Amino acid sequence: MDSAAVSSWIAHFAQLVAPASTVLDVACGGGRHAKFLAARGCRVDAVDHDAALAAQFAGWPAIRFLAADIEAGSWPYAGRSFDAVIVTNYLNRPLLPMLAAAIAPGGVLLYETFAVGHERYGRPRNPDFLLRPRELLAAFADLHVLAFEDGVVAQPAPARVQRLAAVRASADDHARLQLAAPAPEGHAL
Ligand SMILES: C[S@@+](CC[C@H](N)C(=O)[O-])C[C@H]1O[C@@H](n2cnc3c(N)ncnc32)[C@H](O)[C@@H]1O
Repeated sequence: MDSAAVSSWIAHFAQLVAPASTVLDVACGGGRHAKFLAARGCRVDAVDHDAALAAQFAGWPAIRFLAADIEAGSWPYAGRSFDAVIVTNYLNRPLLPMLAAAIAPGGVLLYETFAVGHERYGRPRNPDFLLRPRELLAAFADLHVLAFEDGVVAQPAPARVQRLAAVRASADDHARLQLAAPAPEGHAL
């Protein structure tokens, strides 16, 4: 599922990320979401341990790529927070508290990755990389959940996924939380 096409989950909930927002794309790969958000006017920090990916971001001045192993050593974004944190097709459980801490007040988390049950569809099959039922809800329990799904998707390939859109909302924010508009009928995102 690591294709260049933007995830429909990310495309839909990107409505909640205002232009000029700061975004962190964690384990960004080729940068499909970093580029999608940068094209919408965001300033994106994108991190991946594959240094060769830097070439993918030539010509993208709004994207700051960092080659770093985020599973070893210190978390490179300690003390920093972002208006949106994006994670797709990646799971490293020890990082989840750091990701939560990287979401600024009012900021959005968009997370989508494979879940237990995906084994029948393909890789990953290692349980270390498969979310357990409701695991994203538990990991980000201090966020306000806008949308959560846990099931099988048919596109872009059959997969068992879990996905969360959530916001770090203060008590004052609750009355004016924005939901993403429904997708226009008949138009795939
Ligand atoms: C399946 S790809 C997903 C890429 C991207 N998020 C997407 O959905 O298109 C997983 C990515 O995690 C990166 N990755 C794996 N282990 C990592 C680590 N220890 N530190 C940083 N990046 C890592 C890989 O290099 C790869 O680009």
